[in-house]
Amino acid sequence: MTSKEIRKQYLQFFESKGHLIVPSAPIVLKDDPTLMFNNSGMAQFKEYFLGNGTPKSPRIADTQKCLRVSGKHNDLEDVGFDTYHHTMFEMLGNWSFGDYFKKEAINWAWELLTEVYKIPKENLYVSVFEGSKEDNVPFDQEAWDIWKGLIDEDRIILGNKKDNFWEMGDQGPCGPCSEIHVDLRTDAEKASVSGKSLVNNDHPQVVEIWNNVFMEFNRKADGSLEKLPAQHVDTGMGFERLCMALQGKTSNYDTDVFTPLIEKVEQITRLKYTSNEVKNISEEQNKTNIAIRVIVDHVRAVAFAIADGQLPSNTGAGYVIRRILRRAIRYGFTFLDTKEPFINKLVEVLANQMGEFFPEIKSQQQLVTNVIREEEASFLRTLDQGLQLLDKVVAETKGKEVSGAKAFELYDTFGFPIDLTALILREKGYELDEVGFNAAMQEQKNRSRAASEVSTEDWSVLIPGNVETFVGYDQTENEVKITRIRKVDSKKDGILYQIVLDNTPFYPEGGGQVGDKGTLVSANETIDIIDTKKENNLILHFAKQLPENVNAGFVAKVNTDLRDLSSRNHSATHLMHLALRTILGTHVEQKGSLVNPNNLRFDFSHFSKVTDEQLLEVENFVNTRIQQQLPLIERRSIPIQQALDEGAMALFGEKYGDNVRAIKFGESMELCGGIHVKNTAEIWHFKIVSEGAVAAGIRRIEAITSDAVKTHFALQENILDEVKIALKNPQDILKSVVSLQEDNAKLKKQIEQLLKEKIDGLKNTLVFEFQEINGINFLSKQVDLSMSSTKDLAQALGSSNPNSFVVLASIEDNTPNIHCYISKELVAEKSLNANAVIKELGKYIDGNGGGQPFFASGKGKNVSGIKEALEKAVDFVK
Ligand code: ALA
Repeated sequence: MTSKEIRKQYLQFFESKGHLIVPSAPIVLKDDPTLMFNNSGMAQFKEYFLGNGTPKSPRIADTQKCLRVSGKHNDLEDVGFDTYHHTMFEMLGNWSFGDYFKKEAINWAWELLTEVYKIPKENLYVSVFEGSKEDNVPFDQEAWDIWKGLIDEDRIILGNKKDNFWEMGDQGPCGPCSEIHVDLRTDAEKASVSGKSLVNNDHPQVVEIWNNVFMEFNRKADGSLEKLPAQHVDTGMGFERLCMALQGKTSNYDTDVFTPLIEKVEQITRLKYTSNEVKNISEEQNKTNIAIRVIVDHVRAVAFAIADGQLPSNTGAGYVIRRILRRAIRYGFTFLDTKEPFINKLVEVLANQMGEFFPEIKSQQQLVTNVIREEEASFLRTLDQGLQLLDKVVAETKGKEVSGAKAFELYDTFGFPIDLTALILREKGYELDEVGFNAAMQEQKNRSRAASEVSTEDWSVLIPGNVETFVGYDQTENEVKITRIRKVDSKKDGILYQIVLDNTPFYPEGGGQVGDKGTLVSANETIDIIDTKKENNLILHFAKQLPENVNAGFVAKVNTDLRDLSSRNHSATHLMHLALRTILGTHVEQKGSLVNPNNLRFDFSHFSKVTDEQLLEVENFVNTRIQQQLPLIERRSIPIQQALDEGAMALFGEKYGDNVRAIKFGESMELCGGIHVKNTAEIWHFKIVSEGAVAAGIRRIEAITSDAVKTHFALQENILDEVKIALKNPQDILKSVVSLQEDNAKLKKQIEQLLKEKIDGLKNTLVFEFQEINGINFLSKQVDLSMSSTKDLAQALGSSNPNSFVVLASIEDNTPNIHCYISKELVAEKSLNANAVIKELGKYIDGNGGGQPFFASGKGKNVSGIKEALEKAVDFVK
């Protein structure tokens, strides 16, 4: 069975059991500060387990793109060394939200594996939670009994909290689980060592393939468990491992998920990868294999993250992606001898292989390729620089041990990987002070941990069971009650309170638009709301203090001045998006957007600079639509397919529901949850203030609308007024500026001519002041010229007189400068050196300088030292 068929069968099986099949959520998570990436299938459903929302169906199944490279579940450093861990992997999952529980989940898992996929039962082991005293959770008798009806008792293993109690993070939904493990060893191996003893023991051929979690609890901030309002099922099967089991392989990398990528690397590098079946390989081959595994694994993670809108960068999720890519580049550089970008060439293979099921990788293929190529090129340059710096460090090292602090500097400032440093040092016969390096590293970690420390208390619930409604599309003021409160203490923002209301007019940050600010007003108090954000389907209002009486009735009032400004920028963003696609082409796709009261910022894919003419066209396009006074046509909830059929623009990396909100102004139609003007006339005017690059193939435009444009124009007018006054109020400013420039050019020419004549004149008179000393034509003199003319004169005098030693000095803008010319023959025969002369004479003017043996210059601070410097020059020839 091909991997495509395996995936399809899984989904068909659960569809036949009444599950709704949904697409994978984007790999990059939004609205959840506790997690950067989707690290399991259940992440996109967290809100349903917590009771903050209702799923479309109580039974759902999908395949989810997951990334385990940060936080609680992090496999990054293992990847490449073994044959069954990955950064990105697909997790096949089925869920019950308060519907079926252990009996169905276990029986279906067994039916699928043994009857549909036909994995021999004697190759399977299962585990059951043994219970935990500490958490006061008993042994999972129910799961044990269900399994006993399906499998020999001696194939059921008891597992502890580490292996059989699944938690998504330090806080959140969790529960006991039952895992299914598969033994892929040969019969002879099975006969000599029992598979049971190898379960959960890091054996590469006895691996977990499926985890069935029975979600019953929520882990609170204080570490205690509370019962969830309902019982759920959350399962996750490693797709690549399942393919290994079904395709008769012993390594994930030998399945058709990876072989096309591996073949491409082989073709590019002319090296060979050996499958896991080939035993007794050389040390060299083993290194090649590891590097190839690292690369084909990492390119998937990076390509899908970019396709889902996460570009490599220096912070947050972008930095994690950059580090993964750099790890791949580095393995290629060191072990496959790849000194040119090549990983980007794998994207085409990936797109052909996975594009059918994950269309985003196909449609973004070009962008993903370009971004990776550019990152590769820039990191290869860094590696090159790093190698040179490392050479310098080695040259400065006394003894045979290179300082850990120096290695850390290379790592920290230049991104030069420490294992590469260690390897190169070893090859050069040096040691790395690892203790020193680790200490420097730890110190930095402590610093950044301290800076990002956040402690979040549990919610205190005032009104239980309430599901908050958003009323902000129609109202900016509403009567509300507080339903829950939480305190968050962070190094960055200090103490803040998060307040949830029964209903709210406050728009939570999203779709690029910043969250609303405003107030909560009761009969006795007013509380400032400084920001609004969404988290797991709750709208959080941020305040620096809580009301004294949290149970009072409040009026929630949005600051409408700020919101109106934002809404104008937001609607202008839509118009500009259409303008860019119309003027530059439909390859333009939104890659980032920020809409706030002051301005708008829009990142989009486009491969060259947007010209001034094009920018003007974009402005005109938008301003025409503002003048046309286009009314907002808002549809709150239409089927997504209908919206797309009508031409609405959707974004990659966004998660949309079945029904969406569509925003239309004339021909512009986008799926959007943001706040917009009622009519484009409210935008008043649109003005682009900057255009530039943010990454390979990504441009950024910043623009302003309404009040900001008025301020902008007023400022420009002011500047113009001042210019006018400075020019003494001419009739035509432009004409007088042009004539000034022309005059200026003419004068410049005249000065150059005069200067040349002056230098020539000086050259002709100074010739007579040469003194002959020891066969040397010596001259030392102060002249009245600029620094650059003095330099020219010294060179002219020196070069037109044989055996000359010329020292000239002058003062420009109160700065003394000095120059020395020595004929080449004197440099050679008499070991005279202009560089040394200037170093010495420079001391008299409190200055320094340098150059070459036949010509050097210097400048200083002490004008009164010139005389002495010129007098001392003669010592060199005497
Ligand atoms: N959420 C469970 C896991 O990731 C299924 O293992």
